Amino acid sequence: MNNLTKPVAVLMVLFGQSVIASAQDITALTRIGDVVSFQESTKTVTFSCADSSQVQLTVLAPDLIRVRAVFTKAIPAIDHSWAIAKENWDVPRWSLREDQQSITITTDELEAVVRRSPLLIEFRDARTHQVINSDEQPMAYDKNGLLKSRMFDPSAGVFIAASKKLGFDEHFYGLGEKAARLDKRRSAFINWNSDTPGYAEGKDPIYQTIPFFIGLEKGNAYGIFFDNSYRSYFDFGHSSQRRAWFGAEGGELNYYFFNGPHIKQILGRYTELTGRMPLPPMWALGNQQSRWSYYPESMVEEVVKEYRERDLPLDVIHLDIDYMKNYRVFTFDGERFPDPRAFTKQLEQQGVKVVTIVDPGVKYQPKKSTELQTQIPRSPDGRYYVFDEGLEKNYFQRRANGALFIPHVWPGESAFVDYTKSDARKWWGDLHRFYLDNGVAGIWNDMNEPSDFVDQTGGNQRDVVSYDEGQKTTHAKNRNIFALLMARATYEGLERNRSDRRPYVITRAAYAGIQRYSTMWIGDTNSTWEALALNLPMFMSLGLSGEAFVGSDIGGFIGRGNGELLVRSYQVGFLTPFCRNHKELSGYDQEPWRFGKPYEDIIRKYLKLRYSLLPFLYTTLEESHRTGMPMFRPLMLNYQDDESTYNLDNEFMIGDALLVAPILKPDLTRRLVYLPKGTWYDYWTNKKFTGGQMIEVDAPLEKVPMFVRAGAIIPMGPAMNYVGEKQIDKLTFTIYPDETGSAETQLYEDDGLSPNYKTGAYRRISIKAHKAAQGFVIDVGAAEGTFDPGTKSYEFLIASYEHTSNVVSVIGDGKAHRLELK
Ligand code: GLC
Repeated sequence: MNNLTKPVAVLMVLFGQSVIASAQDITALTRIGDVVSFQESTKTVTFSCADSSQVQLTVLAPDLIRVRAVFTKAIPAIDHSWAIAKENWDVPRWSLREDQQSITITTDELEAVVRRSPLLIEFRDARTHQVINSDEQPMAYDKNGLLKSRMFDPSAGVFIAASKKLGFDEHFYGLGEKAARLDKRRSAFINWNSDTPGYAEGKDPIYQTIPFFIGLEKGNAYGIFFDNSYRSYFDFGHSSQRRAWFGAEGGELNYYFFNGPHIKQILGRYTELTGRMPLPPMWALGNQQSRWSYYPESMVEEVVKEYRERDLPLDVIHLDIDYMKNYRVFTFDGERFPDPRAFTKQLEQQGVKVVTIVDPGVKYQPKKSTELQTQIPRSPDGRYYVFDEGLEKNYFQRRANGALFIPHVWPGESAFVDYTKSDARKWWGDLHRFYLDNGVAGIWNDMNEPSDFVDQTGGNQRDVVSYDEGQKTTHAKNRNIFALLMARATYEGLERNRSDRRPYVITRAAYAGIQRYSTMWIGDTNSTWEALALNLPMFMSLGLSGEAFVGSDIGGFIGRGNGELLVRSYQVGFLTPFCRNHKELSGYDQEPWRFGKPYEDIIRKYLKLRYSLLPFLYTTLEESHRTGMPMFRPLMLNYQDDESTYNLDNEFMIGDALLVAPILKPDLTRRLVYLPKGTWYDYWTNKKFTGGQMIEVDAPLEKVPMFVRAGAIIPMGPAMNYVGEKQIDKLTFTIYPDETGSAETQLYEDDGLSPNYKTGAYRRISIKAHKAAQGFVIDVGAAEGTFDPGTKSYEFLIASYEHTSNVVSVIGDGKAHRLELK
């Protein structure tokens, strides 16, 4: 058998498993033709190939080169992606060199070598000329339709793939939300946004598509963002130990190559390209409680009352689908919530905000009905104005034959908006005035894969056409971007209609770039220990993929938990950006008090600690907004040179200061903790440990092992029951000196609510401490930014084991101060 026929046979057998990712190899695909000529412009080099294909390399930054390939035709003029936030880059310095074998594009950091025959692309470090990543075979496409029978919609595109050499010791990270471990080496994945309740490790695909990964070998990293919204495939040495390949069922072979070697640099660039998270309101860091569903309003009030009476902090209550009149979005059920404005006001007075769920399904209500007459002021004739307006303006999705597409979701027969139309997005966004007028503080987007009870694979939606910038494309291309555009419409609507407040949006499904519009949670998890353990690699991978504001249903969504699981869940959740307890319709109740006082007391302790840590958490969150570095991190992001962290997904860090090693199994009260090199302080006792080793620690139910990196300073405020409950007049900075006696931090503050931070209304101070002949010298830097949080007292203490710390304080007035602590 020659090289071409053998793999075909293998493919045919294996494709019986129905997905392309299970293919043994992709060598049967047709390879792109050799380079016959090339053309240079200010930032691009376009290669024309023997088979009429074209490949274009665009230099965007010294460490960022885009590759665009189309097969058997010229690169089209139209070039659009919903994921990209930054299109115009200042062309960096670059040069081109050619010889008989290849053409080399060189920037200050990166060399892209394009071999003419066969066409192979290799990326090298411009300084050392060391190979970072190279094609294992030429880019390829399914000319002969070998994979057609396995494609979602063979009429919508041709399967394309790029294959890279797999390093012997190469690790893979990212891909956003996958029910998988941190290091994705030897695994394969599919991206096809799917409603997958009760998923467990290995279930794939689930809700989101973030086709971005980071490769790491011998401490050096690179990144690849395959910006293609069709059903896509990533195989990191799963089907062959020779290659890591990625492909999609249509579109262009369009990817961005990021040079490291530092992951932080890659992540910074990736979030420059696809956008960074705007700051949510500070109360979004508060504790949140949800249930499918709290109603009527007296039940919500009861929950809030319990929280307050039990002295448990609470900032947000979520209203799930039953607040609506028969699941009609943009309505309240008039019996359950007779006066929503008065209701939200009453909660607001107790420091509690309301977030309502808004699903994409608009109830299909074509005929006259008087059912809603008294419920919807804007529909005096009893019509459902959302359906009427959407239909009249032709904003709903239609099938190729022009018929309205009618999926079945919570309201029964429904319609979905074509969010690729900009006027439809604006209309949808403006509909949210209904919620704003009723005092709703944030919006929760769910079911936006989009889920359709008729067929969760998307089959029922195959011929649904989206406007798509006038290209009129079908579901194969648009499924994965549906949630991104719905979240965008929501975010922009909130921003437009309440411009003095920061929008707060939560989403289940997503595509790359979602962080510009929405925070996320990882969907319908089980109330099991396995699901809790999976939280860690999932949050860490999301953070490595640009999504910084993440969380899961604390205690798990499906099934019956218990007090121990709930406590251990809170010991993770109290430090995740999104801290929300949520439970399904028929699940056993799991508010913090449901399993008895011993558990409730521990949960209270951690929720209170979260609120005390808010100055630290908010400062860390602002770093995510400004740089793209996640708050919830894998250790390998902070310790990229330490191989012991490459596979570590049962510990995490918050920013670069706090290391947490939660208990993720029942009946366990001790565990091993790996501490990277350096010195670490036990958060609870201040006892010092030398890093670069594994230690064994006690972790009785009331304790989650936490360590502070020597060299850090942690700012803390008072415990509170909701953000803004107390005027913060004192902040405490605990100094954890390193081996040289130094430590530093920053403190970021703003009004926590308005978008004014974007125009400089914030205060950032840096604090440095170092050991002096006697005691410590502490330098409080002059404030940066125009925000004045009012004068506060800053109290400093030095972490020390079995000693009472010395305390010294100064007035935090924005001016520089030097003080001594003896
Ligand atoms: C979906 C959501 C879940 C919600 C339920 C009812 O399953 O993921 O959080 O409670 O729908 O709206």
